[in-house]
Amino acid sequence: MNKKFLNKIIICHIFLLLSVSLAAVAMPKISVLATGGTIAGSGASSTGSAYKAAVSPVEKVIAAVPELSNIAKISGEQICNISSQDMKVEYWLKLAARINQLFRLGLADGVVITHGTDTMEETAYFLNLTVAYDKPVILTGSMRPGSALSADGAMNLYNAVAVAAAPNSINKGVMVVMNDRVYSARGVKKCDTINPAAFSDQENGPIGRVNYGKVSFNARPDKRHTYQSALKLGIFTASLPEVAIIYGYAGINSEIVEAICNTGIKGLVYAGVGNGNPSEEVLAVLAKASENGLTVVRASRVPGGPVTLDAEVDDTKYGFIVSDSLTPQKSRILLMLALQKNLAKPAIQQLFFDY
Ligand code: DGL
Repeated sequence: MNKKFLNKIIICHIFLLLSVSLAAVAMPKISVLATGGTIAGSGASSTGSAYKAAVSPVEKVIAAVPELSNIAKISGEQICNISSQDMKVEYWLKLAARINQLFRLGLADGVVITHGTDTMEETAYFLNLTVAYDKPVILTGSMRPGSALSADGAMNLYNAVAVAAAPNSINKGVMVVMNDRVYSARGVKKCDTINPAAFSDQENGPIGRVNYGKVSFNARPDKRHTYQSALKLGIFTASLPEVAIIYGYAGINSEIVEAICNTGIKGLVYAGVGNGNPSEEVLAVLAKASENGLTVVRASRVPGGPVTLDAEVDDTKYGFIVSDSLTPQKSRILLMLALQKNLAKPAIQQLFFDY
């Protein structure tokens, strides 16, 4: 083989090595923070509905999708390994602190959180209010365990990493990626108990799609997220004020509501009927509780539409806050964070309109 030809082969090899290493250097660093859920679950049969969530560690969840390494430089951490009906404020605080630290130290260009679907919308909204950076934070999970036929977890995780790695995912707040759709944290809800297409945003629809890792956004989230506001958490925030939710219904016993108001809670979200309406007896109990210092938010059990100020209820007279288009469970999150800031009622009400 002549010398010239040999040199050409060597140059080609050097070029190939360079381009592979440059591609690796250029790939975004995505940190996968695992919390459990069905995406880490397993069942005995591929066609049976019985399974156990939160059994696989983060390493196994990532290893199940080797294609991730084609689109990002992946690192994995286990925050907890629970079914998300067991999610708690302490895990939210741990997640928010770790995400802010990863971004502050430049250790990640984006974060993907694998999570059970039951409370995914709550964790997403909590982080939307407490992550102090505009880098992508994406939550994903699955409705079927990896052991099931047509399991959805692997593609959901691949698509979530693709969104976290996409340059135009910056400054869109925390997002949820499920079933090829991208949702904003404020509007997303789990709307079906068992179907892989369980999530939707009835008010605004999805803000984008991701199809085999190809990301396209059709709208910006309609609300700012908190890297621009005063709701940031202190680095060592250890707990949050207790806020309860009561679901309204025909014939509700106002003594039960009164008992809950007197348990030492700092805030109450009343998920009323219609436009957030309490019965006359419950209204009297809430008015007295509000006068005694409890912060009361009127939300609604109705899945769509906002709760509006001073409609059938004179909120101004009673000092009530209305939830706007936030669900009861998200109203609780915003109120917990607002109450730790000792804000006046009008300032708290503005937060419900803005966030
Ligand atoms: N126990 C439920 C949870 O962890 C399983 C549902 C799921 O993750 O899809 O939220």
